[in-house]
Amino acid sequence: NKVVLAYSGGLDTSVIVPWLRENYGCEVVCFTADVGQGVGELEGLEQKAKASGACQLVVKDLQEEFVRDFIFPCLRAGAIYERKYLLGTSMARPVIAKAMVDVAKEVGADAVAHGCTGKGNDQVRFELTFFALNPELKLTKKSIYSRDRNLWHLSHEGDILEDPANEPKEDMYMMSTSPEAAPEKPEYVEIGIVAGLPISVNGEKLSPASLLSHLNEIGGKHGIGRVDMVENRLVGMKSRGVYETPGGTILFTAARELESLTLDRETMQVKDSLALKYAELVYAGRWFDPLRESMDAFMEKITETTTGLVRLKLYKGSVSVVGRTSPKSLYREDISSFESGQIYDQADAAGFIRLYGLPMRVRAMLEKGI
Ligand code: ARG
Ligand code: SIN
Repeated sequence: NKVVLAYSGGLDTSVIVPWLRENYGCEVVCFTADVGQGVGELEGLEQKAKASGACQLVVKDLQEEFVRDFIFPCLRAGAIYERKYLLGTSMARPVIAKAMVDVAKEVGADAVAHGCTGKGNDQVRFELTFFALNPELKLTKKSIYSRDRNLWHLSHEGDILEDPANEPKEDMYMMSTSPEAAPEKPEYVEIGIVAGLPISVNGEKLSPASLLSHLNEIGGKHGIGRVDMVENRLVGMKSRGVYETPGGTILFTAARELESLTLDRETMQVKDSLALKYAELVYAGRWFDPLRESMDAFMEKITETTTGLVRLKLYKGSVSVVGRTSPKSLYREDISSFESGQIYDQADAAGFIRLYGLPMRVRAMLEKGI
């Protein structure tokens, strides 16, 4: 029998290879997904895997699929976990686990293995994806600890961060310069969005993965997208994490801003309230769940008109919106202007306010015995 192991090449996953062979007497096929963790991490991986006893290493470049089919839908939905977390690791697990199911089929393996801890969320995300896509696969696991990096983010947990009172050390950061050391001059960047999905940077059309890596570079240079938070893990415990999401922070700012032109009040409120649930499902490993899929159909529909350009100013850790335009904009200067216009008659306001305030007037009259 054969097992496919989620393999990063780090010390941690390397020890799992001999452990699997000893405990299960099986051949081990190592699988590494390229989700944009950086080229350095993939170098010499095959020799490493074989040296620790694997019969084979399979590497798949999942970057475009990851950004197009996992990251962009979350961006379109506006999915943020607990006010701050842009879900970088949560979105990567299902794309990796899905590829592992495919590899297991290709190499004729009957089992899959990962090295996530029993305290974490990652275990749930891997295993729910295996269940959803091939419930017949057997599962093995062995705990390790790791940082996590991909094209969207880098996460830091553990060590001095375990005390939420400790400030992270500057040398920990890898995707972003500190705001203090960022350029003294602001940089402008213009994001083009079609139906809620980013398509261009400064007028240049780019594929999802290259668009994101380009923005990581620009955002990282200006110290954008650092988040330090205490989050509630799926298993109930609290956990302190620090995330770097430079390009993602720029994209979230742009996409959300465009909606201020294209969505009316109630539509925006409903979208925002569903985004909370959407984020929770993604965090909890329920990517391949009909509930998330149906919500995604809603998000696709509701962002049909979210098309246009957003101009942003990046400066020492901050992203400020400085302009937005949309061919589908609901904003009309001829209505919104303080100058009197044709369509909106200011005299209409008087009657509206009297009716709108009727319940308030009635209550006040009651209190005053009128
Ligand atoms: N707490 C974050 C999450 O649950 C990041 C987890 C990072 N995973 C890791 N194995 N280092 O998505
Ligand atoms: C882990 O590798 O399981 C720890 C991180 C997490 O899943 O939250």
